[in-house]
Amino acid sequence: MPTSEAKYPALGYLIPRARRRVPFFAWEYLASGTGAERLVGENRAALDRVLLPPKVAQGRYQPDTSTSLFGKHYSVPFGAAPVGMSGLIWPGAELILARAARENGFPYTLSMVANETPEAVAEAGGENAWFQLYPLKEPEIEDDLLARAASAGIRTLVVTLDVPVGSRRERQLAAGLTVPPKVTPLTLWRVAQRPVWALKNSAAWSTKVPDAGRIFPRFRHGRQRQDGGHDRRWAARLEHRFPAAAAMARQPGGQRATEAG
Ligand SMILES: Cc1cc2nc3c(=O)[nH]c(=O)nc-3n(C[C@H](O)[C@H](O)[C@H](O)COP(=O)(O)O)c2cc1C
Repeated sequence: MPTSEAKYPALGYLIPRARRRVPFFAWEYLASGTGAERLVGENRAALDRVLLPPKVAQGRYQPDTSTSLFGKHYSVPFGAAPVGMSGLIWPGAELILARAARENGFPYTLSMVANETPEAVAEAGGENAWFQLYPLKEPEIEDDLLARAASAGIRTLVVTLDVPVGSRRERQLAAGLTVPPKVTPLTLWRVAQRPVWALKNSAAWSTKVPDAGRIFPRFRHGRQRQDGGHDRRWAARLEHRFPAAAAMARQPGGQRATEAG
């Protein structure tokens, strides 16, 4: 039996296998960009421009990749970014990632639009669990989410400011994935083609949602994004609640929040 390292020596080897195991609509959700998808290529190119030049002939040394952020020490200078509905891509993905984050010393950010609760992720990820928020139109929903994340023990909040409205995600639409989901004969056929995913998913849903019909209203908060109206007063409220708030935005407001820690 080849070891997983021999089977998948680099991330690229996992892609064809993941594609065979994940239903088409979930794959299209994960792997697509918007419009002509030019930014997907540009992001890749930007990352490829980052070079790590080696220092040679400097004697033996033990590389130290660890770093500190928001008062906590991490073993690597990167973390797992928030990906909405990760549990749709692979059942239980949020908890798998949270555990991996805790065991390996990197941060994992739970998306606000997730298949797992902040409470369960905080328990699995400990201090390595962060929470991501899209600013919401309804303050009560926003407050409720933040209060839950904070009382679960999550100390770091990531605020995504550069997606003020839901994106079109044309490939996802064409693949028939809507939020909340609609079950059609085509969806069922695509689920049937991925039996391991289907079995794991039905197990996860049956334990968590005794009355599956009630899950659809829970998607309501995902549609409540604030339409770019967030301001300093709103930001101050967040900072008051969370000692560590990082803004994932390239606009000036986001940079100010990042500088402020
Ligand atoms: C399928 C998908 C879902 C995402 N969902 C979220 C989300 O819920 N919240 C968020 O802040 N960012 C979300 N993002 C953005 C990612 O966190 C990340 O910033 C982006 O993918 C850029 O990183 P990359 O170049 O490594 O993909 C999502 C990205 C993808 C591809």
